[in-house]
Amino acid sequence: MADTKKKSTKKQKNILKPSGKLGVMIPGMGGAVSTTFIAGVEAIRRGIGKPIGSLTQMARIRIGKRTEKNSPLIKDFIELAGLDDLVFAGWDIYPDNCYEASLKAGVLDKDQVEALREPLERLKPMPAVFSRDYVKNLDGRHLKKGKTKMDLAKQVIEDIENFKKESGVSRLVMVWCGSTEIYIKQSPVHASITAFEKGLRENHPDIAPSMIYVYAALKCGVPYANGAPNLSVDFPAMMDLAKKNGLPIAGKDFKTGQTLMKTILAPGLKSRMIGLHGWFSTNRLGNRDGEVLDDPYSFKTKEESKLSVLEYMFQPELYPELYSDYYHKVRINYYPPRGDAKEAWDNIDIFGWLGYPMQIKVNFLCRDSILAAPIVLDLVLFLDLASRAGFDGIQEWLSFYFKSPMHGEGLYPEHDLFIQLMKLKNTLRYLKGEELITHLGLDYYNLM
Ligand SMILES: NC(=O)c1ccc[n+]([C@@H]2O[C@H](COP(=O)([O-])OP(=O)(O)OC[C@H]3O[C@@H](n4cnc5c(N)ncnc54)[C@H](O)[C@@H]3O)[C@@H](O)[C@H]2O)c1
Repeated sequence: MADTKKKSTKKQKNILKPSGKLGVMIPGMGGAVSTTFIAGVEAIRRGIGKPIGSLTQMARIRIGKRTEKNSPLIKDFIELAGLDDLVFAGWDIYPDNCYEASLKAGVLDKDQVEALREPLERLKPMPAVFSRDYVKNLDGRHLKKGKTKMDLAKQVIEDIENFKKESGVSRLVMVWCGSTEIYIKQSPVHASITAFEKGLRENHPDIAPSMIYVYAALKCGVPYANGAPNLSVDFPAMMDLAKKNGLPIAGKDFKTGQTLMKTILAPGLKSRMIGLHGWFSTNRLGNRDGEVLDDPYSFKTKEESKLSVLEYMFQPELYPELYSDYYHKVRINYYPPRGDAKEAWDNIDIFGWLGYPMQIKVNFLCRDSILAAPIVLDLVLFLDLASRAGFDGIQEWLSFYFKSPMHGEGLYPEHDLFIQLMKLKNTLRYLKGEELITHLGLDYYNLM
């Protein structure tokens, strides 16, 4: 009886059905993350792999009280596109098809890639918008040519329109899986759509290739997520364009490996009021991403993204005795023999009761792209959901997936993985008109 009553008061948001195919457009289509994501989806479609690490495919969401024991899979709870409905396309500075690129990336076993040869071979990247001025350690040859950055943007727009027409998809999303570009600070050219378009026509040096893809996507009505730490979509001109065209955007920098561990550990230490003297993090990786980050200008972009995490989680301004004076260092070392199997070391100097020091050592032998691929999948499906639900601008509820979450003006980014997860799940409950879960729980004890 109570159940029926609750159902009738539900105020579900208007979410358009995910009918038709969903196009997934990826700058950096030949990279380790991208090929691991695409090959993974192909493997899962064929029943020869499982979507481990993906919330949209594997996680459940509790609805109602604990006593109701109602925890459906997220994908059964809310209308998401199915994996069979995804159609891939993208750009890269190398012409290798996804089969060749997967083999070169060396993330997945050769046998597994071989089993997926046919669908992967069909995926060939379109020529990229690229310049070595923005990624020093790469030298591409599969590139677009144009006198101005606006010419290049128009070519990307044409690519998007052609793909939409030829593939027959009904909706599109774009996820940047391209290399980390050099550190660029926001400048007046990023301040408004007008200034940005003038900058495109005049080849302004503060407009990096990634921004040209974002501009093209948003002009074509395509939601965008940024998997790298580049400025890319994170400035007023692009935020205005996203709002103007009613499009969701999200970023930046996929939260995998070491930063994932940081955002798991730090909230735990902070919640117990354990102090911090220092956190020293090093990474050894040997993939192309590592090669790009070997350049100090690209590393600077990554460093900013990795460093910001602790500051926001520990809140030294609120807890000066515990966190005002810690030393935080992040290093990335390019070490080719390790390939994509990164090794991350963390030494954490903490202190407890009466100031007594302790240490934690974390040695994470991880596989970066194996951790990143399910993030790409979830972002694709959730961005599409956001778009169908009429959400536009920054999607803070997707902070869960990013090292350096985009946030509204005047807000600080939320880094705590567990708060991020609660926010994500409550957003889904909100969309479906279900009660939000606060974990107060007093009503179980007849106190209310
Ligand atoms: N691997 C991870 O777990 C992880 C985690 C967080 C963020 N990231 C970021 O995601 C991005 C991809 O990582 P990856 O490991 O796949 O790197 P990768 O070097 O294997 O792939 C990047 C691809 O982008 C291509 N590229 C570079 N500039 C381009 C452009 N302008 N247009 C089109 N293609 C372009 C490169 O040729 C390459 O194939 C990087 O920026 C990386 O920092 C990766």
